[in-house]
Amino acid sequence: NPDVDEIDYDESKHEGVAPEQTHVKTTRYARTLSREFNAVVVEHHLKWAPMCVDEPGPCPGGESSNRLGRYDFHHADAIVDWAIKHNMKVKGHVLAWHVTSPGSLLEEMSPQQVKEELRRHIFTTMGHFYGRIKTWDVVNEALAPDGSLADSVFLRKLGPGYIEQCFRWAHQADPDAILLYNDNKVEGMNGPNARKADAFYQLLADLKRRNVPIHGCGIQAHFNASGVGKNRPPTPRMVKNQIHRIGKLGLSVNISEMDVRVSQLPPNLRQIAQRQIYRDIIAAALTESCFDGIWTWGFTDRHTWVTHFYYDDEPLLFDEEYTRKEAYYGLREALSSI
Ligand code: G3I
Repeated sequence: NPDVDEIDYDESKHEGVAPEQTHVKTTRYARTLSREFNAVVVEHHLKWAPMCVDEPGPCPGGESSNRLGRYDFHHADAIVDWAIKHNMKVKGHVLAWHVTSPGSLLEEMSPQQVKEELRRHIFTTMGHFYGRIKTWDVVNEALAPDGSLADSVFLRKLGPGYIEQCFRWAHQADPDAILLYNDNKVEGMNGPNARKADAFYQLLADLKRRNVPIHGCGIQAHFNASGVGKNRPPTPRMVKNQIHRIGKLGLSVNISEMDVRVSQLPPNLRQIAQRQIYRDIIAAALTESCFDGIWTWGFTDRHTWVTHFYYDDEPLLFDEEYTRKEAYYGLREALSSI
């Protein structure tokens, strides 16, 4: 299942809204996506806050005024149903990520209320997509750069056990679901972010040791080809070694959000450097038997979170006009090696 991808759906560069299915079907975006990939992960609209109608203010009226009662699954449903109709698998991203939870409401709640709301969110979301989504990122980016647990409303209210608790709830909600932990800058063993990569491994080992229902993990792989220090991409060997030791825990590993920034390189080096990183990292990962998928974070440079959040870049496999780039052929070369 290595040919996978996704992001949100719109054609217009600055709108992040999933359009109606009829619109999706007519776009070059949708045509390229269904032709080239076999799975989709929703980039934004399946997270808690975007689906929570009541964020940021409380629900109006009565005893429910401090509860997160209502959901709007409209955008997420449109993408998920479109993917299924095109015979593509869907990975659910993500049940518990503090950054995209309805934080202002949760902050005002007691620990017991936060616990109830988080549990309810997991059951509501997995229940809504039951039968359509079988694989879930349960917890995302719970680790800080130094390998400690990242400060979050979940950690402050519920303590470090919230990670384990989320997996247990997710398993109760759908006992057959594949449950994953996902994080960034954890891709390489003994690499530029060795402390965080070690903490990631230890967290997974600890969850396994305590029989928590976890089946695998995602290593994000948001790389910068010209990064230095901690922003240097890990070498293929570092990635292979990290995947290898996680595999020995009995867990699967996927590359979950790959993109490769190149805008700080001289223009004549960009495509070739990008091709090499996609090819070599993926080829190294594919040598490990526990490795079970590659997801890029978007596929066309027309729609990338990098440009939305940072600066103009071209980190993906297709250019803004949906033409295949060198990076695309690098990935194909790696895939053909298996
Ligand atoms: O949909 C609204 C739109 O209506 C509004 O006009 C526009 C104004 O800025 O915002 C649109 O929503 C944005 C959404 O992306 C869709 O484009 C949100 O503001 C923006 O916060 C949201 O960002 C997403 C972010 O996660 C938070 O959910 C990025 O697209 C997405 O790439 C990013 O993905 C994360 C992974 O989940 C976890 N790993 C890191 C990765 C990159 O940050």
